[in-house]
Amino acid sequence: MLKGTLAQGKVTFVNKGYNHFIDMDDKSVSQWNSIVSLAQDIKLRPQSYSDKCKGKIMATLFYEPSTRTQMSFQAAMIRLGGSIIGFDNPGNSSVAKGENLKDTIKIVSGYSDILVMRHSQEGSAKAAAMNADCPVINAGDGGHLHPTQTLTDLLTLKLELGRLDNLTIGLCGDLKYGRTVHTLLKALSCYPSNRFILISDPSLALPSYIKDVLTARDCKFTEVSTIDEVMPQLDMLYMTRIQRERFPSEEEYEKQKDVYRLTKDKMQFAKKDMIVMHPLPRVNEIDVEVDDDPRAAYFRQATNGMYVRMALILNILNNTPKNKPLLMGSIHKEVRCTNPKCVTQTEKYLPHSFVSYGGILICEYCDERILLK
Ligand code: NCD
Repeated sequence: MLKGTLAQGKVTFVNKGYNHFIDMDDKSVSQWNSIVSLAQDIKLRPQSYSDKCKGKIMATLFYEPSTRTQMSFQAAMIRLGGSIIGFDNPGNSSVAKGENLKDTIKIVSGYSDILVMRHSQEGSAKAAAMNADCPVINAGDGGHLHPTQTLTDLLTLKLELGRLDNLTIGLCGDLKYGRTVHTLLKALSCYPSNRFILISDPSLALPSYIKDVLTARDCKFTEVSTIDEVMPQLDMLYMTRIQRERFPSEEEYEKQKDVYRLTKDKMQFAKKDMIVMHPLPRVNEIDVEVDDDPRAAYFRQATNGMYVRMALILNILNNTPKNKPLLMGSIHKEVRCTNPKCVTQTEKYLPHSFVSYGGILICEYCDERILLK
């Protein structure tokens, strides 16, 4: 699997002092809580925040499709009195002429105070931050992470259930490629006494690096293959879409689509105060009849996304960064990450940086584990 000898050298790719938000651990649990509380206040008193970002510019670079994340970020900045620039179709930018990520980020970050990016390659947000001259927010990097959806989910749980701890949470659908599930588990496993029930086909099970996070934090989780058997236990059911665009082939997607479908009938077995969340878009996994059930929280969740992003923008622009290095591992010049979707596959100038852990190397961009032979 690994070719050549390892050329080693300790690197710390120091963040130039910007308050990036690439993954949940760029902020502490108490900072997540402050962002959620600030979002609650903004939701109650939006007028008091209407000129907090006057004169500031946010760039939104969406290399992948988006409705909620992109528009809620844009609406958030406009509601804070700021302005927006950006693209939602890289085909209309110099990307179509072959410009690499580094150059696009270098240029756009020179025009803006904060940069929000969604990209199909895993680790692309970290790669962007390494070259940016302003803070970068990860709005989704392939099937890897989606931390601002997680802030949205934390706010929704707080508003709907009043707490972030002591919850039994079912996560259903595409746990392999669903980036929202990965960051949500990373976050909720930091609050006491949460228990997770992972509902998926074994071929779409949670990646082992996230399971390892749960185990390291002593979090209870079980894996099952049907919703019905666990429904009565749940405080929250997190439904997800099968991520068609991340499947290696259409045949494999066809086998998985429509396996899980939440219906009105199934809702009869849920607790009276349980809630259903979904990052959206839904395809067929929640029957439209469920929308009228007061426990269906997904449209409220989408609105919360705008308030939490207002709070995040304020947190990033107003707080002194803690200067966490962007890369903390070692350069292994001869080693290539084996994940075909890793940003290092196309952005060739990036240092091949890995963290060693036992007999494996972990790619610092996409978290892929590489077994050393
Ligand atoms: C999610 C995403 O893009 O990962 N959507 C979103 O941001 N609200 C979920 C999905 O696309 O299935």
